Amino acid sequence: MVVLESCWWQGAIGVVKDIITQVKMRPSNTISILLALTEACVYGAPTEQCKVPHSLAPPPPAPEPINIRQLPLPPVIANETQGACTTDVNPLGTGCVPAALEERFQGGGFLPDGRHVLAMVTFAGAPAAPDPASIYEGEHIIIIKTTEGDRFTNGDPWKCITCGIPAQNSRGRAPGNGYPQAFRDGKRILAGTNIIDCESDLASDDCTPEKTNVYAIRQSNTADDSGPGGQIRELRIHPDNVHLGFSMATVNDGKFDQYSYLGRLQFNPSPTTGSEPLAPRYDVVNTQTLFSDSQKSVYVDSNNPGQLVINKSAIIIGELRGFNGDGREVTYVGYPHESSNIDVFAADLTTGAVRRLTEHPEYVDPIDISAHDDWMVILDTRFTERQMWLSGLRRIPPITDLVSTSATSSTRNNGNRRFFQPWLLDRYGDRGDYFGQQINAAGSGVPGSGAINDPEWNTRADPRWSPDGTEIVYWQGLTEAPACGGENPLPCYPSTEPGGRNARIMIAEFTSRDPKPPIKDVPTVPDVVPWAMKYVPGAPSPKRIPPPPGNYTLKGKCQGSASVTLIDQSNSGFLETVRVTYNGFSDDGVNVLNGWEEVTSVNPSPTETKIDWYSDLVQTGPDAGTKKSGEEGFHLLIDVWLNDFEANGTLVTTVGGKKYTQPANGT
Ligand SMILES: *[C@@H]1O[C@H](CO)[C@@H](O)[C@H](O)[C@H]1NC(C)=O
Ligand SMILES: *[C@@H]1O[C@H](CO)[C@@H](O)[C@H](O)[C@H]1NC(C)=O
Ligand SMILES: *[C@@H]1O[C@H](CO)[C@@H](O)[C@H](O)[C@H]1NC(C)=O
Repeated sequence: MVVLESCWWQGAIGVVKDIITQVKMRPSNTISILLALTEACVYGAPTEQCKVPHSLAPPPPAPEPINIRQLPLPPVIANETQGACTTDVNPLGTGCVPAALEERFQGGGFLPDGRHVLAMVTFAGAPAAPDPASIYEGEHIIIIKTTEGDRFTNGDPWKCITCGIPAQNSRGRAPGNGYPQAFRDGKRILAGTNIIDCESDLASDDCTPEKTNVYAIRQSNTADDSGPGGQIRELRIHPDNVHLGFSMATVNDGKFDQYSYLGRLQFNPSPTTGSEPLAPRYDVVNTQTLFSDSQKSVYVDSNNPGQLVINKSAIIIGELRGFNGDGREVTYVGYPHESSNIDVFAADLTTGAVRRLTEHPEYVDPIDISAHDDWMVILDTRFTERQMWLSGLRRIPPITDLVSTSATSSTRNNGNRRFFQPWLLDRYGDRGDYFGQQINAAGSGVPGSGAINDPEWNTRADPRWSPDGTEIVYWQGLTEAPACGGENPLPCYPSTEPGGRNARIMIAEFTSRDPKPPIKDVPTVPDVVPWAMKYVPGAPSPKRIPPPPGNYTLKGKCQGSASVTLIDQSNSGFLETVRVTYNGFSDDGVNVLNGWEEVTSVNPSPTETKIDWYSDLVQTGPDAGTKKSGEEGFHLLIDVWLNDFEANGTLVTTVGGKKYTQPANGT
């Protein structure tokens, strides 16, 4: 039986709206698509009405030529003792970096001129003061020329922006320099929770340490505005250069959770509240918590208390990732639309319209959308088979995810071994069998070779677009012990980079593209986000309220149903177990799911999740496959920060005739 109003129309109308609003498509095209939809609806066979029409987005782009080049970094020293960075190693006396740089390095974004990129580096081995080279020690922000052969006047292709800044210019500086991003004025940089502000263009000789100030960014988090402020993390400059997106972690019901925020940056030259020193700083004001109780991904139908509803238009933000080019949308890792499949989404800050940007079953997290809004770069584990044993069977409704997302997102890494590579997607993202183009696909692919596509060089957050849309900067780290070597079956490969450096930074150039004119100004978004809530310093953190324990039915949009039991095993007041039994369940009329799953999750500590997982699922249709646990089930203990895979039992997904198994413990 087909429920007419359920899926086909919703999907179609959503897609048309998206096309009209997002593509600025010519009205004649819009009309022909509407006509096609009307026709399909009137004349389509009943089963057609359950199909979610993907085909309305334009056809995927053809792969394009990409040239990868590597950017220079300061010379490498093997030994980090004071003075090891001699003039033999760096004749210009402008600093050295350690070979083991990866955990002390981060690539950043482009400067607005498109000819420099930012990076956080850690200098080591500087001589003692008063040697002028003594300032090249510890964590700093550098800018690197992106044109081969280009040099600063001192002869280096890089320049340290923060080395040697007088103490009085950085009295309030907060520790950390992560995710360096430039403001469009070319004079300011966001790094960690600081804004580095130069009187002159950052790349010019006039930008000297004496003319540079460092100001901390502070989000008040107490009713009387006392204290150091909130622990804000993962900061992203909004394209209007006035607002700031960020996340704050919390613990709810003994479990790590995180919420995202949008606030306005306001320079405060003489603060009177907060911790000492009361140095000039940027306050984040008029902050919005990008969360609302009324946004519900899985909820109980109030007209029919026995029924669960899944709403894929709800805005459920796990972690803020940035903004689209014109700043109208916030991008984020969201509550899954398909079980165990972590994706990125965009939500319109005004209308609340949600776009799902990725669909591939593998894990995605960092994303950057180009300034002109036509392309994205994502870091994804797609085609590495890291997560397929868990997420490879598509179209499973996201119900066990009520208790399992911390665990299912934590298996993506093995400690510091990331499985990410950079992928290019057009503005519509994954659809049909289009899953983008791997940006660094060239090379022998031999592990340890140091090739552009050496799988042991893992790409790390964040990749960034050049302002004219012709280049991407990304950086990589080499897999290191204990994620390789010793008991691990994966050997550790020595670095082939200069001095054995284990981090590298690359430019991907899209050689067939013409540069687009830079976007000078992006309209300032309103402070108030209608679908969010005002952040009140000192008020308790928000809390995600799942449906209450009980027995429910979830109807397939096209046929069948699922019986869902939500259990609070230990009467702790929150969900621990989700059991789902599918009976001919189908949301799309072609894929039909049968079988059952039961997942129990407890938290030995806020960041540790222990999962007991039982699955026996069989799907027929285009995305046919199975997801089955072994006889004893599958049991995993994992920490969201450490990502050390320790499991008993098995969970196996078979799709397209291929069997995917979980990683071995410790790998
Ligand atoms: C789904 O969520 C959106 C955004 O909150 C809301 O506008 C819409 O009414 C919801 N739909 C259903 C069926 O719950
Ligand atoms: C759910 O159903 C099971 C049996 O099917 C029953 O034992 C249990 O009490 C029910 N739970 C609730 C909260 O109704
Ligand atoms: C796996 O089994 C061992 C031995 O029984 C036990 O100590 C450990 O806690 C189990 N781990 C998980 C994740 O269940």
